[in-house]
Amino acid sequence: MTKMSYNIDDVPAIGQALKRQQAKLPEPKEILKDRRLKQLLADIKQQSADQRAAYGQVVNRLKAELQAAAAAAIDEEAGLSPIDITAPFDSNVPAQLKPSVGRATDGSLHPIWQEIDGMLDIYYRMGFNAELSRQLDDDYHMFESLNFPSDHPARDDYDTFMTPEGLIAPAHTSTMQNRVLKQYRANLAKGQAIAVVIPGRVFRNEDVDATHEHTFYQLEGVYVDQGINVGHLIATLQTFMSEYFHQPLKSKIQPFYFPFTEPSLEFAIERPAMLKKDDSEAESWLELLGCGLIHPNVLKAAAIDPVKYSGFAWGGGVERLIMLKYGIEDLRHFHSGKLDFLRQF
Ligand code: DAH
Repeated sequence: MTKMSYNIDDVPAIGQALKRQQAKLPEPKEILKDRRLKQLLADIKQQSADQRAAYGQVVNRLKAELQAAAAAAIDEEAGLSPIDITAPFDSNVPAQLKPSVGRATDGSLHPIWQEIDGMLDIYYRMGFNAELSRQLDDDYHMFESLNFPSDHPARDDYDTFMTPEGLIAPAHTSTMQNRVLKQYRANLAKGQAIAVVIPGRVFRNEDVDATHEHTFYQLEGVYVDQGINVGHLIATLQTFMSEYFHQPLKSKIQPFYFPFTEPSLEFAIERPAMLKKDDSEAESWLELLGCGLIHPNVLKAAAIDPVKYSGFAWGGGVERLIMLKYGIEDLRHFHSGKLDFLRQF
């Protein structure tokens, strides 16, 4: 028998049933594996073109509600009250637990920020400005402005966390592209390029291990002017990598897919000699980041004429670069609070 797909009218009843069942589960997060929820999500693709966006929205909202309830249950069990994640961090800490404030000279910059500062210095010397990304953003900046239609399966590649109000803990620093393009658009009329790098914290729904964290840093870059091509992109990245690793490095690009670039590419460098373990081909290249020429729709969303101007963008993980440079084997060291690790920087 061929299975009929769900439509938007089915969602409320199934949603109610899932919530009732979730309330009874010893592990409320188990509901996220429910067959009906998976089917609802899978059926986004089955909707007619005029229904897809609306259907996708209610189904994704339902998923976010179930995730939020699961997270709340975990907090409750741990005896924690829900926190306001947009508030300054210490306003969520009960008064009796607040640490006394130490002298500024007692502390130092976290190694990740020391390294980011060094990376920004390289880009400053190449003529870039820097803007910090946000730690809470909206659907428009996370997806719409980056040419992800509301029902596009590529959204699934950026599985992250959402507040019950639908705000998003950004899964990449590309969320800032639309903002910096608008902010620096006036440069173009003056015959100057838009050249901005954007460091920031990003969040993914990941199982944590030595090379994956749910919270990490990315460095993004955006460059727009007349007559920009892939050659400019490669030269910029290669210059940065050679500076950062203090040695000339070969690089290569290979095709990839991102909705916000056309063509989309992956940028790899020749593994620095000190990190080579053997001579195999797989050992010799390190894929470091995603990049490409900015998609015309992304320029249009920032009111930049894609016929007159073109640009490139890139974005990649910061910790990975630091780990390669210093031979750090486990990503979790960075946030472990282990002083013997941190003091080495
Ligand atoms: N945002 C992408 C990611 O996190 C990386 C990326 C790819 C950034 C292409 C870009 C780009 O700016 O043009 O997977």
